[in-house]
Amino acid sequence: MDLTSPIPIPDGLPQERDAGPFAPTTFVADLRARRPVCPLVFPDGHVGWLVTGHAAVRQVLADTRFSSRLDLGVLHVPHPTPGMPQATEPSPQVPGLFVAMDPPDHTRLRRKLTGAFTVKRMRALEERVAQVVEERLTAMAALTPPVDLVREFALPVPSLVICELLGVPYADREVFQANTARFLVKDVELAEKAAAYGALTGYLAGLVASKRAEPGEDVLSDLARHEDLTVEELTGCAFLLLLAGHETTANMVALGTFALLEHPDQLAALRAEPGLLGGAVEELTRYLSVGDLFYRYATEDLELHGELIPAGSTVVLSLLAANHDPEAFEDAGALDVRRDARGLVAFGHGVHQCLGQQLARVEMRAGFAGLLRRFPDLALAVPAGEVPLKTDMNVYGVHALPVTWGTAAG
Ligand code: HEM
Repeated sequence: MDLTSPIPIPDGLPQERDAGPFAPTTFVADLRARRPVCPLVFPDGHVGWLVTGHAAVRQVLADTRFSSRLDLGVLHVPHPTPGMPQATEPSPQVPGLFVAMDPPDHTRLRRKLTGAFTVKRMRALEERVAQVVEERLTAMAALTPPVDLVREFALPVPSLVICELLGVPYADREVFQANTARFLVKDVELAEKAAAYGALTGYLAGLVASKRAEPGEDVLSDLARHEDLTVEELTGCAFLLLLAGHETTANMVALGTFALLEHPDQLAALRAEPGLLGGAVEELTRYLSVGDLFYRYATEDLELHGELIPAGSTVVLSLLAANHDPEAFEDAGALDVRRDARGLVAFGHGVHQCLGQQLARVEMRAGFAGLLRRFPDLALAVPAGEVPLKTDMNVYGVHALPVTWGTAAG
C-alpha cells in the first residue's frame, strides 16, 4: 500500500481481521505501524484522517479544538453517504446530546449528571447489580442448554440496571432495545435510522415530561428538577444515557465471555484467583474496545504526530487500534488478565471520557464473577468460527453467543 498520498476507501474501512475476531482489522493495524495519523479518501470523495496510534489518539481526545460536533448523519442530518461524509462546519447541536457538543455547552449538561455516576454512587449500587446478576443466572441455569448468553444474560443485566437507575420502566424495553439496535446498524438507510430515533425520542419525551410533572427517585427525575433544562434537552440526555448505558456493557460481557472461552489459560487463571477480576475487567475492556471508531472535526489547522490536519477535516479515531498499540502496551495483541492496563482509551479520554465507566465496571465485575462461579464448565455450543460477530454494527460484539454446560450449574 502506498502511503505517500491519501488512501482511497470507496467502500468504507476494509473489514478483514487476519489476526482473529478480537484484533483490529488488518488495514488499521498496518496503518498504525506505518503511518499512525494517515489521510484517507473517504467514500464521498473528500480527504479525512484516520488516527490509530495510542499517543496521537490521546492527543486528539485531550484537545477540544478537535470538536465533537460532528454528526455525520448518525442522528438526523441528511448526509448522502452515511458513515464518513464531509462536514463543512460543526454540526448543529441536538438538544441534550452532550457527547456531540463542545465546552461550554457540553460542560453545562455533563456537570448536572456527574454526581449521579461517581465511584461512590456506583459502589452503593454494587449489591443491587449483584442481585440482578444472580437472578438472571438462576433463570439461565433453569434452561436446557444450549442457550444464547446474549439474550439470557449479557443484554438483560445492563438493561435492567440502567432502567432502574434512570427510572425507565423495564416493561417498555421492547421500544428501546429494538430501536437502539436498529440505530446502531452501520449501513442502515437514513430514513430507517431517523424512524428509530423518532420512535425512541418520542417515547422518552413523554417519559421525561411525566417526570418533570411528578419527579421520583431516579436519575432522570433528578435531571428534570433542573428548571433550566428544556424537555428537548432532557429527552436528548435520556436518549444518550439509555443508548450508551446498555449496549456497550452488554457487548463487553458477551464478547468478553467469548474471549475468555477462547483463551482457556486466562480463564483458568481467573477461576483459580478471583482476586484477578478487577484487573481482568480492565484488560478485557482494553483488549476488546467494543466502542472502536469515534469522530472529531478539526476546527483549525492542527499539528498531530508530525502531520498537518487542515481546518475542517474529519478525524476518525480507532480506540481499538490505540489500545493494541505495541508502543503503549507490551505484547499488546495478547489477552493477559494479569496485565496493568492503565492508559487504556476504551472509555475515551479528556472532557468526554465515559460518564458511565464506573457503572460499566461494577456491571462487568459482577457479571463475570457470577457467570464464572455459577457455570464452572461453561463452554461454547458451536465452533468459534460460527459465532456471529457484530461487524455490521457501530458497537462491536456478538449477535448471539450459544453456550452450554454440564450438570454443574447452580
Ligand atoms: C462516553 C465507552 C459504558 C455513558 C463514552 C466514550 C467512550 C465510551 C469511548 C467517549 C466518547 C467520545 O469521546 O466521543 C464506553 C464503554 C462502555 C461504556 C466501552 C462499557 C464497557 C457506559 C455506560 C454508560 C455510559 C454504562 C451509562 C450511563 C456514557 C456517556 C458518555 C460516554 C453519557 C458521553 C460523555 C460525554 O460526552 O461527556 N463512553 N462506555 N457509558 N459514555 Fe460510555
